[in-house]
Order: sequence, then C-alpha cells, then structure tokens
Amino acid sequence: MTESVTITDNRTGQSVEVPIVDGAVSAAEWAKLLPGIWFYDPGLGTTAECESAITYIDGEAGILRYRGYPIEQLAEGSTYLEVAYLLLNGELPVRAELDRFTEEIRQHTFIHENMRKRFFDGFHYDAHPMGMLVSSVAALSTFYPEAKRIDEPETRRRQAVRLIAKVPTLAAAAHRFSIGKPFVYPDVSLSFAENFLSMMWRGAEPRFEADPALVRAIEVLFILHADHEQNCSTTTMRVVGSAHADPYSACAAAIAALYGPRHGGANEAVLRMLTSIGSLDAVPEFVRSVKEGHGRLQGFGHRVYKNYDPRAKIIREVAYDVFEVTGKNPLLDIALKLEEVALADEYFSSRRLYPNVDFYSGLIYQALGFPVELFPVLFAIPRTSGWLAHWSEMLEKNTRIARPRQVYTGQDERPYVPLAERG
Ligand code: SDX
Repeated sequence: MTESVTITDNRTGQSVEVPIVDGAVSAAEWAKLLPGIWFYDPGLGTTAECESAITYIDGEAGILRYRGYPIEQLAEGSTYLEVAYLLLNGELPVRAELDRFTEEIRQHTFIHENMRKRFFDGFHYDAHPMGMLVSSVAALSTFYPEAKRIDEPETRRRQAVRLIAKVPTLAAAAHRFSIGKPFVYPDVSLSFAENFLSMMWRGAEPRFEADPALVRAIEVLFILHADHEQNCSTTTMRVVGSAHADPYSACAAAIAALYGPRHGGANEAVLRMLTSIGSLDAVPEFVRSVKEGHGRLQGFGHRVYKNYDPRAKIIREVAYDVFEVTGKNPLLDIALKLEEVALADEYFSSRRLYPNVDFYSGLIYQALGFPVELFPVLFAIPRTSGWLAHWSEMLEKNTRIARPRQVYTGQDERPYVPLAERG
C-alpha cells in the first residue's frame, strides 16, 4: 500500500497523487490541481499550520513529550528553568549551561522602575490581573526597541530570557496592586519558583521562607503548563510573530488568547463551577443540567486529548502533596465525585470527554492561597517559555506571514444607496 492519497478533480478528470509524509499531505499539491478551491476547516481542527520539533502529543493515547522527554519523567525529575531551557534549545542543559541560564534569568527578573512606580497605578482598583498582564507585557516592548530585530538569533535569545524572567515579576506586581500591598522586588538569592512566591507573599520579613513541598508543587505545575504544541495561545504567538512583530507584542497577544475561558480561563471557571455545585449531593443534578445543554463541565474535554490528559493525572497527585501542608481543599471531594459521575456517564464517554489540565490545578492554586482571578496568570507564567520556543522555531524556519483564506457567504455586488434614499 503506497503512503499517498489521490485527488481527482471530477470536473476535468485530472488527478494528482500526493504522498502522506509525517502524517500530513501537502496543501500545495491541492492548490496546483484546484486553484481557488479552499479547505474549509473552522477551528483548524484538521489543519497542520506548521512543522514543529518542540512538543509531541498523542491525543488518543494520552501522551505528552517535550523534545522527546515524557512529561511524567520531567515532572518527576526536572525543574521549570531546566524545562524552559530544553524547550528553547532542544536539549537538556549540562550543569554549566543550566547555571548560566539560571543566572541570566535571575538578573533579568527586575522591571524598569518606571513600570514599578507608575504603570500599575493607572489601572482601576479591581482590574483583572490578566488584563494587567496583557498590558504590562505589551508595554515591555517600549523598553526594548532592539527586540524588533527579530532576525538576529542573539537578540531573540535575549528577549526570550527577559520575558521568561519578567513575566512572574509583572504577575506578582499585578497581584500586589490588586490587594493594595507594596511591590516586592525580586530576590536573586532564591530559585525561580521561590522568588515568585516571595514577590507574591512576602510581608515585613527580611527574606521569604517557602515550604519546600509547596515550592516543588509550583515547579511541577510550571513544568506541566510550559508547552502544549499548537494550542490557541501558541498559534496566536506564531501568527502575530509571523508578521515580524516584536516578541513582547506577540507574547501579549498570546496572553490575551489564554485569557479566554475556553483556554486558559478554564481553571478559574472550574473553581467557580465547583463552588456553585456546593455539595456532593448536588453533583448528579449538575451533571444532568450539563447533559441537557446548560453550560459545560469546566476542566473537561480537549481538542486533542480524547483520553485522560496526562497532566491531569500528575496534578491530581500533586494536590495530595499540597494538601498535606495546607489542609485539604473541601472542593476536592466535589471534584472527585464529579469526575467519577462524568466518567461513568455515556454522554461524556461517547464524546470522549475527560479531565484536562485545568480540572485539578485550580484546587491546588486555591489551597496555596492564590485568588481565583490569578489562576490564568499562573498558566501564562510557564507557558511563556513554550510560546517563545515556538516563536523562535517559526522565525528560524523563515515562515511566511500567516494569511488564511475564507469561504465568502456575504452579499453579491450591489449599488451604493445614498442615505437620503434609504427606507
Ligand atoms: C486548555 O489546546 C490546548 O492544548 C489547550 C490546553 C493547553 O495546554 O494549551 O490544553 C489548555 O485550553 C484545556 C481546555 C480548557 N477548557 C475547558 O476545560 C473548558 C471546557 N471544555 C470545552 O469548552 C471544550 O472541551 C474545549 C474547548 C476544550 C474543546 O472544545 P472542542 O474540541 O471544540 O469540542 P467541541 O466543542 O467540538 O465539543 C464536542 C462535543 C460537543 O457536543 P455535541 O455538539 O457533539 O453534542 O462535546 C461537547 C460539545 O458540546 N463538549 C462538552 C464539553 N466540551 C465539549 N460538553 C460538556 N462539557 C464540556 N466541557
């Protein structure tokens, strides 16, 4: 059996045999045979927008690998900065490389004093932290005009380091603004995760001391959220980057996409859903309402995973480690019951709807004391390294500007009607 498909234009009888390469067929061959005839693929669910060597997902089998390394092994043995290095460079760092990368990140965690002193004060008192993060990351582009030189590998690398380092600082600054507390400067003596917790929670004490189990939980959650191939926000990063916009502007666009409740806003929606269910007894009624079309089971379902999201399994284990320290989140029992009822229900199994990365992560974030509004921000922090890895890969391949076609369903030509003559 030849690995190919044959496309025949029945209007002319012309055919072309197109090889199936790496699970895809080239649209260019289609375009040659059928100029002006487009593939109609809303949501791009069956379209490969690029070639990428960064992350591999097998949705049927529930497999996720970063640069070939299984997510389970990285969650077990790696750190977030090591994973960020892996995503950006394609290989795990040796000790000297990791130390140099870690030191660079540490030195770039500071933001310009103009941002610290003035930028956040411009927001309304109850501004959503994701709105503040989108805006402040976009504003970073005005501090680093060199970032427009996207064709220079070293300049790209330097902006990637700045963004990975500064997004946590901006995230913590947004939170501190929301609660009326003073900005906490980065503490370069701490690890990436410890420093983030210090900027979030430090009070009057000279140095923030975090519980090691909670620090490890943050590291694992950051590893699990670092990349996920061509999701909505990463595709946004690639599309905006293909116009040769600077990486800060492209990253702000990606954060805006992640702000959507269908994507990064889901863990916030899961908490609100569990809170509204309120008790174990109310779970069956809630499931019934979802099946009748009243809203969705937040944290369930995925465009790619038609099996259990491997990240959800790991996060559920991390939850128990966190609750050992913080005490169990009372919503956990409702979540476990909801999962049990849904997985046993034909409505969800027939649609191959399983818990995704967001189903349990919010329970951990809430137990760690993060406000619900900050949950998508906690998603954006680690996903910054994934977005930048894809952005660099896209530019290294000299990708054309993204410009899809459309199926036009509007009016045919019609003459303009002056205002005075309209009914
Ligand atoms: C993330 O792409 C990524 O990789 C994303 C992400 C990442 O790491 O970047 O993994 C992070 O975004 C995870 C997903 C977080 N979102 C949610 O949990 C929100 C709830 N889930 C959905 O709204 C939905 O499942 C999506 C958006 C995640 C996926 O939507 P699809 O693939 O477009 O699914 P669909 O709309 O085609 O649904 C197919 C059927 C429909 O029913 P029918 O019309 O066939 O009767 O399944 C139903 C849907 O109504 N359905 C759900 C459901 N999700 C889909 N029904 C109830 N509850 C749900 N959650």
